[in-house]
Amino acid sequence: MLKEITSLILKHTLVSRRHLTPELALRLITPDCPLWRAGEGDVPFKDPFWAFYWPGGQATARYILDNGESVKNLRILDIGCGCGAGSIAAAKMNAKQVLANDIDKYAVTATNINAELNKVNLETNTDNLIGDDCEHFDTILIGDMFYDEEFANVLFKWLDRISANGKTVLIGDPGRHGLTEKRRSRMTLLAQYKLPSDSAMENNGFTHSTVWKLN
Ligand SMILES: C[S@@+](CC[C@H](N)C(=O)[O-])C[C@H]1O[C@@H](n2cnc3c(N)ncnc32)[C@H](O)[C@@H]1O
Repeated sequence: MLKEITSLILKHTLVSRRHLTPELALRLITPDCPLWRAGEGDVPFKDPFWAFYWPGGQATARYILDNGESVKNLRILDIGCGCGAGSIAAAKMNAKQVLANDIDKYAVTATNINAELNKVNLETNTDNLIGDDCEHFDTILIGDMFYDEEFANVLFKWLDRISANGKTVLIGDPGRHGLTEKRRSRMTLLAQYKLPSDSAMENNGFTHSTVWKLN
């Protein structure tokens, strides 16, 4: 099964550096891939979120690469890792341990392929860790996960709890409706980035993306 998933990912993606972190090579479905224009019935993946590098994840990874001290010697958990860029950035900047987590097995397979491409070591898993105490981690990364209101409610409540228990929570987000004004008022803005034009075009007109720390 793993072999099958790996070869499907390799067949349908291309290595891209056309994003906010060009120092990371990532296998993605890009406009140069036949799948980009394929009809729904011709796509061999269900909801391939992992095949795109979301603006929130781009901001988190950019922030980590520019601020290595935010992860150095720390234990990092990347929830909803998608293509794995946040985890790869943390591993590159000398995190002590990196766990890339996503409930989609295609995402963790893509993350392992991308980790190898960028010559970093990390661990992956597919458990649903939302609600977990995260005792074994110092910092939780959230890249672009506030796209759904109901899910955002559950996610924020949990992040709030683990932050109150001393975990650092870093959230990358381009302005999704789930990261409400009220929630943003509970966070510190760490960075704002202008998205490269390709990324902006591929992301419904989002032109910027931000990184927040939950207070
Ligand atoms: C919008 S994508 C963002 C991916 C990546 N962080 C980025 O910014 O490029 C959201 C990801 O969250 C994953 N996801 C959804 N619910 C999850 C859960 N309960 N636990 C872990 N991952 C989850 C999805 O499979 C998907 O890969």
